[in-house]
This record gives sequence, C-alpha cells and structure tokens, in this order.
Amino acid sequence: MTAPSTTATVTSLLAEIADVGTDQWRGGYSRPVFSTAETDLRGWFVEQAGRRGLDVETDRNGIIWAWWDTASGVRKDTVLTGSHLDSVPGGGGFDGPLGVASALVAVDILKARGLRPAKPLAIAVFPEEEGSRFGVACLGSRLLTGALDPDKARSLRDADGNTYADVAAAGGQDPRFIGADPAALAQLGMFVELHVEQGRGLIDLERPVAIGSSILGHGRWKLSFAGQGNHAGTTLMAGRRDPMVAAARAVVAIRDAAREHRNARATVGRLQPVPGGTNVIASRVDLWIDVRHPDDAVTAAVVESITCRAELLAAEEGCTAALTVESLSPTVHFDAGLRDTLQSLLPDAPVLDTGAGHDAGVLAGHLPTAMLFVRNPTGISHSPEELVDDADAELGAVALADALAGLLNGPAS
Ligand code: GLV
Ligand code: MN
Ligand code: MN
Repeated sequence: MTAPSTTATVTSLLAEIADVGTDQWRGGYSRPVFSTAETDLRGWFVEQAGRRGLDVETDRNGIIWAWWDTASGVRKDTVLTGSHLDSVPGGGGFDGPLGVASALVAVDILKARGLRPAKPLAIAVFPEEEGSRFGVACLGSRLLTGALDPDKARSLRDADGNTYADVAAAGGQDPRFIGADPAALAQLGMFVELHVEQGRGLIDLERPVAIGSSILGHGRWKLSFAGQGNHAGTTLMAGRRDPMVAAARAVVAIRDAAREHRNARATVGRLQPVPGGTNVIASRVDLWIDVRHPDDAVTAAVVESITCRAELLAAEEGCTAALTVESLSPTVHFDAGLRDTLQSLLPDAPVLDTGAGHDAGVLAGHLPTAMLFVRNPTGISHSPEELVDDADAELGAVALADALAGLLNGPAS
C-alpha cells in the first residue's frame, strides 16, 4: 500500500490499494473476510476516514462506521452510504471498493462545497458481503438486521474447517456479541450504496451512472453426493459408487433445470471432491449452487427440480444426495420514494435493475434504500476483467455527492 494522497480521486484511492490481495494464481483479487488482505483494506479505510475527520468505530458485527456528525452530535435520520471491501476469489478491483472509495471522495466533494449536513452522514464497510469464505452472502448486514441467527453464524465453517467464531475472535472481534443491533439501525434514515455495474445496462444506454431499481432474488445451496471412496486402479468400473460422476451429471441437470424457466439462472461455481486425489475415487463430492429468478416461487421451483434430479442421479450412481440451503435473498424492489428523489437529483441517470446481490438488498427491509451503478466497460464482474474507466469513476463520485447533498440538505444545497 502506498501513502494516501491529499487530493484524492476515486482512481487515486483505488491505486493505493491496488497491490492488496492480488491473486497470482487466479488473477485479480482474493480478499476474503478476515484475511490479511481484507484486514489491511479495513485498516486503510479507517485511516482514510480519520484523515477526513470522520468518527470511526467498528461495531460488534464487524461493520465499520465512519460518521460525519452534525453540530448536535445526535445520530438519527442518518444518510448512510458505503459498500464492502471483501472479494470473491479472483475478483475484480471495483466490486465493493468502488463504493467505499467513492463515498470517501463524495465526502471530500461535499466538504469542498462547504456543505454543513443537516443530518448525519455515515459511511459503512460491511464484512463478508460476498460470502466467499463462510458461504452466507451479506453476513455483516444480515447479522445487523437479525436476518441471520448468531448461533448459526458462529458455527459457519470456511473451506479449511475454521468456524466463523474462531476466525472472528482471531481477528479481534468478540463472537459472543454478534447479532441483531436495533440501536444501530435506529440511527439510520436511508442507505445509498454505489457499486460497479455488473452487467451491460449502462454500456447499452451509453451512460456513466444509473439508479438501481431492484435486485434479483437469489440463494445458495450446498449439494452433497456421498458414495464409496475407493482405489482408482483396483475398482472395476461396474462396481463403483462414484459421487464425482453423480456430481458431473448434476452440473448438467442444474443447467437444464434453470433453462426450463425464462430469466432463471443457476450456476455451479464451486465443486469439491473429498478427499480429492487423482488416484482416489471420492467418497463425497460437495457442490455449491447459486439460483436466481425475479419470482421467488420460480427460484423455489428450480431448486425443487434440482433436488429431484439430484436424487435420481445419485440413485443411478449408487450414491446418496443431500441438499441444504446456505442463504436466501428474496427479490428486492428499492424504495420508490427514494428512487424518485434520486431521479430528481440525478436527472440524467437511467434506472436499472441488477442480477447481483448487495448489502443494500438486506437493509432494504429495514429502511429506505437505493443504489447507484457506475458503468463497467467490459460488462464482466466477479472476474479480473471487471473494469471502470477513470472518468466514469469520478463521475460516479460526483453523482453520489450530488445525491447525498440533496438527501442531507435538500436539492438546493
Ligand atoms: C454478489 O455479488 C452476488 O451477487 O452474489
Ligand atoms: Mn459487491
Ligand atoms: Mn460481488
């Protein structure tokens, strides 16, 4: 990490963290929650917020809050912005950090304009938005809002078998105190999360910034096939109970189940044989499934169809199949009033929905919530090819500043 600059732009802030969590093997960035990379990024944010005179605290769920208080010091009706700093494995550099860096620059812009907020402004950094390490997406905001049972969170395990409780404790958090925080929520008035667009909407519209309208319903499931672990050389093909074959056939069946419903998406992005040796017939294969559809009933129907197909395939291969849900996020339509206000503050911004999940979707059940999307010229995300042009990044921060100014003090400020 290089030293923070004094006249920051979004591009210069992202440049400061460009070497944190680079992944030499996958390309891009791997910044799982509580990793050295994510911890370094959190430290970087705390320093940046401190430089701006913001009052920084980390709550019992590991969410960092940076406050620009009013003269009264009363934290009520707060206009919240921010995003996350963790990443998927081998992800891009903008998914999450763009929203955090833009929030810092928006504060600079508002201060340079001489704005005196009539309400508090806060920037939040939410941990484990991607769910890359512990499987549950938006873990921090789910804990905050009570959407995730603390006991369940404490017992979540990463790929190495470490529990969330142990990893959080090693990271300086006290896992006994995680869970719903109504007092923190009561301080908030609204949330506007800026994020890189993860599709091609703004490319097609030839615009730099959009206002979000909805988030596609989505969920994650773990499908485990159990068979008979055995020797690759001494076990005849006819006598095998190989869960890898069942899993391979299931990947195709999952694709086919989604294809039966317009607008459904189903993905197997992770598959793990146990024990995982070239000359070993696996005893178990776990695969993780991500299913999305605007209609939550269709998502449920796709998952039901996957369950039936998996059981049949398992039986044909002499194996068993078990499906468990990891997280579920219904389709979210952002607050219409806040969206209308943003449209009046940002009249050039089109309105777009998204197929990607966000902490804004979790908070939307508790307070008026909105999103801004910044054009991604590749249209690719969750990949090293994710991109934002420098000029668009700065336009995004200005749009966020304009939006925040209007929400804090009214459109004329
Ligand atoms: C997060 O980006 C998700 O959509 O899963
Ligand atoms: Mn994100
Ligand atoms: Mn993401």
